[in-house]
Amino acid sequence: MKLLSLSYENFRNLAQVTLEPSAHTTVAVGENGQGKTNLLEGVYFLATLKALRASKLLELVRFGQTFSRVSGRFSLGGAEREIAVEIRNGVRTAFVDGKRAQSLESYFGGVSVVAFTPDDLSVVKGSPEGRRTFLDRAVFNRFPAFLDESREYQRALKSRNRLLKDRAPFAHLSAWDATVAKVGARLWVRRRALLGELATGVVEAFSRIGRTEAPAQLLYAPERLAGVDFATASEEQLMHALAAGLDARLQRDWERGFTSVGPHVDDVELKLGEHSARAYASQGQSRALVLAWKVAEIENLQRTSGFLPLLLLDDVSSELDPERNAFLMQYLANSGAQVLLTTTDAQLVRSAAGADTRWYKVKTGLVEAVDG
Ligand SMILES: Nc1ncnc2c1ncn2[C@@H]1O[C@H](COP(=O)(O)OP(=O)(O)OP(=O)(O)O)[C@@H](O)[C@H]1O
Ligand SMILES: [Mg+2]
Repeated sequence: MKLLSLSYENFRNLAQVTLEPSAHTTVAVGENGQGKTNLLEGVYFLATLKALRASKLLELVRFGQTFSRVSGRFSLGGAEREIAVEIRNGVRTAFVDGKRAQSLESYFGGVSVVAFTPDDLSVVKGSPEGRRTFLDRAVFNRFPAFLDESREYQRALKSRNRLLKDRAPFAHLSAWDATVAKVGARLWVRRRALLGELATGVVEAFSRIGRTEAPAQLLYAPERLAGVDFATASEEQLMHALAAGLDARLQRDWERGFTSVGPHVDDVELKLGEHSARAYASQGQSRALVLAWKVAEIENLQRTSGFLPLLLLDDVSSELDPERNAFLMQYLANSGAQVLLTTTDAQLVRSAAGADTRWYKVKTGLVEAVDG
């Protein structure tokens, strides 16, 4: 998969921008607040239909406008395809080759991106919610159906929580329990599958980057899951276990007004040797761990789908120490992946550049090709 061209219309501060990325490295250089992250956010939105940082779709539409569009031409298995996403009056619509996408499968069909931002670097020390989001982005990349599944789960959960808040009779709640349990079990199976695939890759990548004896581990075990072994349980067993968990917590959840068991409360435990990375890792070690996860994710996508994802790196170099930045740049240069990088300082990313690198300058939402 290669991204051949990109165009933006009224996407954040990018009024009208077109880009022709290199098949390998493309660098967008600019001062703070000029639109570099917006460029990557547009690609991320195009390729995942999810916002990289906005909490509302309307934030993505240029001030004073009601319509926004990002489109990209990709070459996929020898054929070319154009995918586009529009936001019109707050509603998002996806297109494939100019026609409304019939299904998400037809829309995504082989396009995948892995984004890496400075926010990711704090994921080890940050909140469980941040780690869930981080994990779920990776799960979605690996299993695109996860987008619909997690939306279905969120909808059912929201309805159930509303009833809990309204102190509705127990009988009304049970109408949602079946969906929460069924879809919740599916989310667990997806997360478990992805983490299983990443496990050895993370250990290997971390030992390359981390210069630490202790091996890195990702552990995931739902809280309050009684009676089954999460690692080996079937999806059906997990569904029954979640239904039982909802039941067991019902009185308590009813008093507190929210659902306290399910994939939405879980955490990923990151460990270095025997110790919790959240509690004990140094800043450098926790960044190395995030980097190792990303590298493992990229390699896993390549192994399972047969091609490398498009990589988006938003100003990550300025947040890494020189040695880890050098590792990352070398890794990118050797991987052969198509990469879009942003930076305020071209020197930091120069070692990822090659003869075919394209350089762009970003200023007040305007983007122009420049010489490296
Ligand atoms: N919906 C919008 N409409 C118009 N402008 C917007 C919109 N959303 C954000 N902006 C503007 O985009 C600019 C920020 O762009 P962006 O985050 O891409 O900057 P950046 O180049 O990545 O900066 P930094 O180096 O600080 O990360 C700000 O000036 C902000 O006001
Ligand atoms: Mg930025």
